[in-house]
Amino acid sequence: MKNDRKEPMTTRTSQETVRLTDDVCIPLIGFGTWQLESTDAYNGVRSALEIGYRHIDTATAYENEDQVGAAIRDSGVGRENVFITTKCPPNLAGHERETIDNSLKALGVDFVDLWLVHWPPDGEARPETWKAFIEALEQGKTRSIGVSNYSIAQIDQLITATGKAPALNQIRWNPFVYDARLVDELASRHVVLEGYSPLKRSDLGNPVLGEIAAAHGKTPAQVILRWHVEHGFVVIPRSARRERIEENYAIFDFELTADEISRIDLLKA
Ligand SMILES: NC(=O)c1ccc[n+]([C@@H]2O[C@H](COP(=O)([O-])OP(=O)(O)OC[C@H]3O[C@@H](n4cnc5c(N)ncnc54)[C@H](OP(=O)(O)O)[C@@H]3O)[C@@H](O)[C@H]2O)c1
Repeated sequence: MKNDRKEPMTTRTSQETVRLTDDVCIPLIGFGTWQLESTDAYNGVRSALEIGYRHIDTATAYENEDQVGAAIRDSGVGRENVFITTKCPPNLAGHERETIDNSLKALGVDFVDLWLVHWPPDGEARPETWKAFIEALEQGKTRSIGVSNYSIAQIDQLITATGKAPALNQIRWNPFVYDARLVDELASRHVVLEGYSPLKRSDLGNPVLGEIAAAHGKTPAQVILRWHVEHGFVVIPRSARRERIEENYAIFDFELTADEISRIDLLKA
């Protein structure tokens, strides 16, 4: 996706959201909770909500939904102000109804905002699982449904079988795997791109990122996260340290120029 504009692509705010097909708005930045166990999950989510995050990403497989739910309740932010994503693990395909019911119970909520098929079960699209997701949506157990780690071909299989596209695909994403064609393929199906592992899988010591970071008085991690929001990619960084949770959210007081975005887009090459 070549960008010839000289001006920044857009001005983003910390409350910026992306509209999903189910007419639900997902905040562009969220807090990831993979590998945050018990008190780390609780404290991380409490910190994130205090700092301003309003979107939390968890999963059945992370075994921390109870801590995430408790932190949201204790935060005083209000359930209606927090976007909650959870995911159905591939090994529980065929048991979707009890899986969502168990997630709701662990989180202590009546519904989640987004429920994802965590991975294609046995590497397959599995339209039967998607049909069970549509049922959960119709029953109001989730406000929107999507997938994670699905290929375009697998997404097309779900659409062909049910007529309903996933609202979002959560995939490993960062400047070093940026693929403009994939961005276009998802957009043409109205599937929002949500990136995971934005920092862990990036080279934070990359000199281009370092130069751009220095120009803005920011860190390379902040430049990567800002690059996501400039593009409109939903991003869910995770940290167990309060100072980094804060750093990762402090990306709404600067803008990347179109030239800087293009240079970052080319890091994969
Ligand atoms: N759908 C899927 O299959 C899938 C797969 C993976 C992840 N996810 C989701 O995506 C979220 C994010 O991905 P992730 O947890 O794999 O990786 P990540 O957020 O890219 O990176 C987390 C790692 O980066 C460190 N870190 C955080 N902020 C930093 C900063 N400002 N500077 C330098 N290092 C920093 C953290 O260490 P400290 O804790 O020490 O700060 C941690 O080791 C997950 O938590 C999960 O919610 C989904």
